[in-house]
Amino acid sequence: MSDARQPPIVLGVETSCDETAAAVLRGERELLGHIILSQDVHALYGGVVPEIAAREHLLAIDDVVSGAVREAGLTLRAIDVVCATAGPGLIGALLVGLTYAKAVAFALARPFIAVHHLEAHLFATSLEHEGAHPPFVALLVSGGHTMLLWVPEWGSYTLLGETRDDAAGEAFDKVAKVLGLGYPGGPAVERVAASGNPRAFSFPRPMLASNQTPAETDYYAFSFSGLKTSVATRVRELDTAGELERRRADVAASFQAVVVAVLVAKVMRAVQEMRCSRVVLGGGVAASAALRAELAHALGPDGELYAPSPRLATDNAAMIARTALFRWQRGEVAPLHVTARADLPFPGLKRRQVDG
Ligand code: KG4
Ligand code: ZN
Repeated sequence: MSDARQPPIVLGVETSCDETAAAVLRGERELLGHIILSQDVHALYGGVVPEIAAREHLLAIDDVVSGAVREAGLTLRAIDVVCATAGPGLIGALLVGLTYAKAVAFALARPFIAVHHLEAHLFATSLEHEGAHPPFVALLVSGGHTMLLWVPEWGSYTLLGETRDDAAGEAFDKVAKVLGLGYPGGPAVERVAASGNPRAFSFPRPMLASNQTPAETDYYAFSFSGLKTSVATRVRELDTAGELERRRADVAASFQAVVVAVLVAKVMRAVQEMRCSRVVLGGGVAASAALRAELAHALGPDGELYAPSPRLATDNAAMIARTALFRWQRGEVAPLHVTARADLPFPGLKRRQVDG
């Protein structure tokens, strides 16, 4: 165990979906070891297969954790705090990392912290950018979630809006599938979109009527299912007409432009209402260069936009360790009988109250 005057060393484990990840973090920002193993096998099925994910985690977890500790130049004895994602996520997948990490904590007699995956995405950017601290408006956009949050301080979160159906990343994945671009869809759509015309097709812009007011429940809400269906219909028409090959890039660019426009517009609504022009991005879709560029443009020179680098935008264990440090400093140690929950409630989250 390290010296009490030294910053604590946290071992983090993440297995909520299809990445087996472990990290060793010293203090708030010093990433000593960091390993992410992505399960490529799901590409065969066009999406994550839960049972396969759990099995792959089981095969990899020991090597991934040992690898991160070795990369840090340490042995397990040097770890002060152990943590893992307890939810939300795929239950079988979560249980692998959580059980493994609890066993390590028990064997070493160290405190164990159970971490909420989405709170961790909020912390990810702060690992690299000192300025990415509250107050800020946060946009969490991943394969499973699309959430707009107001974060006045760490641990206190107001949910302004979320998706009514598909997540933003899910829409990218599904559109990539109909375009024959493979999984995960976001990076593939972005690559193809680069040579397309974003104004070639006018797809619907869901939940974006210009006359919406903050008093309406949908003011900050998202919906991507109708957009996805509209793109799929257009792709079928183009395919029948033998035009798909020639217009694929235009479809990808037009679809991406709509998703980005909706996300940016809703973030800007929050920036205006909260009178806060510091914005933090999190989740896999935060890797989108189009999203970052449009948001930076909308915020203007006085705005502050913080986005994680790709290795910390997608699922990783460094963000889990950083969140655990915060919770541990508040004395929130979990009992070793703590279990994983697919629908773990977001700690400190309250919903925006709409009058009338
Ligand atoms: O946070 P993440 O790694 O996993 C989840 O917790 O879901 O996010 C993965 C999602 C996938 O849906 C992927 O298509 C999307 O992030 N994504 C992107 C980009 N890179 C990854 N979406 C749009 N543009 C990108 N460049
Ligand atoms: Zn995630």
